[in-house]
Amino acid sequence: MPTPTLSTAKASAPAKIILFGEHAVVYGEPAIAVPFNTLSAIAEAVPADRGSGLTIHARDLGMRLQLGSGALIEELDHALIYAAKLALDHLNAPVPDLHIEVSATIPLASGFGSGAATAAALIRALSAALGQPLEGDELNALVYEVEKMHHGTPSGIDNTVIVKNSPIYFIRGQEPQPFSVGKPLTFVIANTGIAASTKETVGAVSELIERDPATYKTIVEQIGSLVREAKALIEHGDVQGIGQLMNLNQRYLHSLTVSSSLLDSLVQTAIDAGAIGAKLSGGGRGGNMIALADTANAEQVAVSLQNAGAARTWITTLGS
Ligand code: PMV
Repeated sequence: MPTPTLSTAKASAPAKIILFGEHAVVYGEPAIAVPFNTLSAIAEAVPADRGSGLTIHARDLGMRLQLGSGALIEELDHALIYAAKLALDHLNAPVPDLHIEVSATIPLASGFGSGAATAAALIRALSAALGQPLEGDELNALVYEVEKMHHGTPSGIDNTVIVKNSPIYFIRGQEPQPFSVGKPLTFVIANTGIAASTKETVGAVSELIERDPATYKTIVEQIGSLVREAKALIEHGDVQGIGQLMNLNQRYLHSLTVSSSLLDSLVQTAIDAGAIGAKLSGGGRGGNMIALADTANAEQVAVSLQNAGAARTWITTLGS
């Protein structure tokens, strides 16, 4: 393999939030997700000394990872090194002499897709530094492979919304559909400050379905129906209807045992503070909840959530 000419490159990828359909999406039902650009992962690649190989400095993890200039084998169990190796194999490129700094403002294991965002930013910077930038479906497929390391059986929603950086209506294995937003929607996002493993919550749902398919498969299908309805309501700008479907989705997620006492109480706090609807977002049992609010009331909802124990809150508008 010829040694490519290397250049400096900087790339990023946004966080994401799931509005409807988490967990059910793993079983082929639709889900709706949007990028959350307030939080992002950044990767900066700089050519390094000849023969030094590839160093990835994951600043937030306090880790320096190395992929040698010989065989592509070292530290493959780390997701970032695995991502780099996948990209190099895909490009049929030798290990370059590069230093890549990776950092993120996205809280880890919080339902914001930090794993997919970091992998996407890293592969973007690495491939651009090699002069063979990876984007679109190629990048998405590589990030999906990295996601498997985090999740076991990911639906692919995280990597798809993060790589596309646009709102998507997603069904596993199908081309994601864009959708329009009839009226701007203001969401308050609250992070519980509790890191939770999506692999574990996905595993818990799978056990429930195995144990009692009649009950839990039906819940999954009911979530699918409400997501189809939610897409139509978002397109028509029916804000009250969207809020009601969020509340219904939360009840189903609670039945699937992926809520938690803190998530339940934050959902209730948001409703008591005047939110139109609220639900957990992402894998659950920690991570995030989202509330739909009137623009005028969003700040009040956020303050109430902080007072009720949210570690951090953000306000974001979809379709503005
Ligand atoms: O990464 P999280 O916490 O947003 O969870 C991903 C959404 C799930 O539906 C729970 C899992 C999946 O692979 O779709």
